[in-house]
Amino acid sequence: MRLKYGGRDRSTTVADTIRGDLTAVARAHSNIALVKYWGKRDPALNTPATGSISVTLDALATDTRVSFDPSLAADQFHLDDRPEPASRVSALLDVVRSQAGLTLHARVNSTNNFPSSAGLASSASGFAALALAASRAAGLALTPRELSVLARRGSGSAARSVFGGYVEMHAGTAASGLDSFAEQLLPGADWPLSVVVAITEPQPKPVSSTAGMLGSATTSPFYPGWLETADRDLDTMRRAITERDFRTLGEEAEHSCLKLHSLMLTTRPALIYWNAGTMAAMHRVIRLREEGLPAYFTIDAGPQVKALCAPEDASAVAAELGAVPGVRQVRISALGPAAHLVDDMAPAEPGNP
Ligand code: PMV
Repeated sequence: MRLKYGGRDRSTTVADTIRGDLTAVARAHSNIALVKYWGKRDPALNTPATGSISVTLDALATDTRVSFDPSLAADQFHLDDRPEPASRVSALLDVVRSQAGLTLHARVNSTNNFPSSAGLASSASGFAALALAASRAAGLALTPRELSVLARRGSGSAARSVFGGYVEMHAGTAASGLDSFAEQLLPGADWPLSVVVAITEPQPKPVSSTAGMLGSATTSPFYPGWLETADRDLDTMRRAITERDFRTLGEEAEHSCLKLHSLMLTTRPALIYWNAGTMAAMHRVIRLREEGLPAYFTIDAGPQVKALCAPEDASAVAAELGAVPGVRQVRISALGPAAHLVDDMAPAEPGNP
């Protein structure tokens, strides 16, 4: 069988691919945005309305195996050994099939090394791992930029999880969506940072990001201001990273987080993702700074609080956040690597069903 390679015709055959059997296994790490995106330019292509900047998290990873199999009549998806609806997975596989000229269905198995339902951006790591495993299993060898464009089709934040360290996502302007991709700003090793994750609620969020952003764009009076100020926020964060200016990075991350949640709170119906533990953890982080322990919070579309701090302060910040009423579990993460192929899957987080 002759397959396309990197979107261009090459003499690569299925037999030349990683495992030679239409199978590949990939690992990708989750990420947390320092400058958030919320709102889509083109919902069909899943292009964001604004750019964003994130850090990739070493401690939170998804492993995904994709096997295209002639015996299957439909795609199958298992998450942590449990069957799940395959529609979002199939939509991304359809893009891969059309690029590779394949018609086969696939068996997809994913495991998260963190609680799957706890709102820890598993769609970012999940779709980045799926994009890499599916494209390689289908015989495509995409460039990192092409892989980022592909992962974006599954989830906007997944485009960033293709890369390690500090990452910027470009909104792009092209109708094709091909200029809407992420790239690395700085390797994590060049400026180590820790992220302390405080889990306040292990249940899935009540409103998905996709539905929530659509509501904000059409109903929040703050949405025009959100779009207008995005470039300034991105410029300031990019400069903070270039200059290794932790205070500006932290202040801008908190500002972007609070601006995002102002947008959510003023959406109709309102998107109130915080609980009492979220609020208590935010206040604790602010008080830690007043007490001389430099840390800054950020929060996505959910109730978990992530504190940004220097690696040498991470255990102290984790101990403080672990003692906040409503915080059920804390995890410390360093900055993580790019999505990559692996020989086999790691076991799921103990306790995941
Ligand atoms: O594209 P999604 O569905 O992963 O949405 C991500 C939305 C936020 O996490 C709140 C912001 C961001 O930039 O990651």
